[in-house]
Amino acid sequence: MTDLIAQAVQVLRSGNLVAIPTETVYGLAADASNPVAINKIFSTKGRPAGHPLIVHIANPIRSQRTQEERCLIWEEALSVWARDVPTEALILADIFWPGPLTIILPKAKQVLPEITGGQETVGLRCPNHPVALELLKRFEGGLAAPSANKFGHVSPTTAEHVRDEFPGLLVLDGGACDVGIESTIVDLTRLDSVGPVVLRPGAISEEQIHDALGISQRSVPLVALSSDIPRVSGSLSAHYAPRTKLILYRDDLVLLLNEIKQAKQVTRKIAWVHFGDVSKAVLPVDATLPAYSEFILPNTPVDLARNLYAMLRSIDKSGCDLILFQALPEGAPWGAVRDRLSRAAVGSGIV
Ligand code: TXA
Ligand code: MG
Repeated sequence: MTDLIAQAVQVLRSGNLVAIPTETVYGLAADASNPVAINKIFSTKGRPAGHPLIVHIANPIRSQRTQEERCLIWEEALSVWARDVPTEALILADIFWPGPLTIILPKAKQVLPEITGGQETVGLRCPNHPVALELLKRFEGGLAAPSANKFGHVSPTTAEHVRDEFPGLLVLDGGACDVGIESTIVDLTRLDSVGPVVLRPGAISEEQIHDALGISQRSVPLVALSSDIPRVSGSLSAHYAPRTKLILYRDDLVLLLNEIKQAKQVTRKIAWVHFGDVSKAVLPVDATLPAYSEFILPNTPVDLARNLYAMLRSIDKSGCDLILFQALPEGAPWGAVRDRLSRAAVGSGIV
């Protein structure tokens, strides 16, 4: 791996792309100071220009320090990329980095417009994966990295997923991603008017962010952004999607199956994805039903996040032409996976 990391540093320095493991999903990395390299991210992914990229930075904390010392070190590291670094950013960095949190700040002058989508803000994250951290340390610069998938498709959580999508790309194999869904994004550019705003839910919850910052009331809603500029491309409704059509069901499975039988379009094989406690009896024994394969969901939001994208990718390969997916429970702990799944339902079956 050490040799591969050295090779990756060379590839990045020569303005080319490398797929890197992070604890959330694999990223498609380029030198954040090289506009030609960054443009290769957009052309490789088929990502529309104007969608901003997250800059990944090294962990500058190398030894035991007091909180005050650590915050000073983070301030120095963040000031390379951000014009204004509020105390809130330092507190969040100190508590959650390296980790699955992206912080949006006003951008420093030299941050390339190719990264920010022409906006005045920049997204920053210090990822918690030993391979990514070692690469960032040796590269001695920032790495712009979106998820390493074609635009709109399911994010990759293994090196094999990336190779499937981008044959020929140098992929650093860091094993299966531990978190499995993309980082939480928190916008700290409007602290005075609205406070911290979670733009994309993830493993770090809004509540954890509020607790860290000493905000007691649930004053900050999750905003669905409707401006023309897609500040969060994952906020487009069709995103994170499998190629197979996906329908979420709650109590209406039998009704749904009747509709499927009556529909003109013939369904040959269904992927039935549900929690293990659902009794098989809910699927009527009926010779006119299409064949189906069952996929059992993990019981906790953490385990589901870890496995969701790999499951959707394997269903895409399984020859099923419809996914019937049991809706997830209500409640905050399931919020981030619910978010990804509802987008998958909107975007699926298009490509
Ligand atoms: O976990 C992750 O965040 C992964 C890994 C590779 O780090 N990366 C990732 O990147 O999910 P991507 O490009 O697929 O999604 C990043 C999101 C996009 O939706 C983008 O619009 C948003 O971050 N973003 C980046 N910079 C932004 C900014 N300045 N303001 C608002 N949103 C921003
Ligand atoms: Mg993505």
